[in-house]
Amino acid sequence: VPALEQEAENATISQGVVESNHAGFSGTGFVNYDNVIGSSVEYTINADSGGEHDLTFRYANGTTIDRPVSVTLDGAGAQTVSFPGTGAWTTWQTRTLKVTLHAGSNKIKATATTANGGPNADKLTA
Ligand code: GCU
Ligand code: CA
Repeated sequence: VPALEQEAENATISQGVVESNHAGFSGTGFVNYDNVIGSSVEYTINADSGGEHDLTFRYANGTTIDRPVSVTLDGAGAQTVSFPGTGAWTTWQTRTLKVTLHAGSNKIKATATTANGGPNADKLTA
C-alpha cells in the first residue's frame, strides 16, 4: 500500500504560518500554529478505497507542556491527540491514531484545544 501523505505547509492553514527556522522538517517547512485555541491545519488525504488507517502526525514541541489537538474527519468524530514535549523545536517525533477513511478526498483537521496552540506541524501520513 503506497504511503498517503500531505506536508503541513501544503495543507489549509487557519491561524498559523509556514516557517523553516527549525531544522529537521520534511518538505519545504512546517506550520507554526498561532498560540491560541482554535488554530488549525486541515489536511487532505485522497484514498483509493475505504478502510482503517493509522494517521501519523509528525511534529515538534520544544516546550515541556502538552499541546493537545482535536482531530476530525470531514468535521466529525473528534478525537483528542496529545502532543507532548519533544525536547527541542528541532526534535521531531510522531503521534498516531486510527481513523476509518473513505474512498476519495478525506479532510482531516487538527485544531488546537489550548491557548498554547498546536505543536509545530511537519506532515500527516495515512
Ligand atoms: C517558538 C518557536 C516556534 C513555536 C513557538 C511556540 O517561538 O520558535 O516555532 O511555534 O515557540 O511556542 O508555539
Ligand atoms: Ca506556535
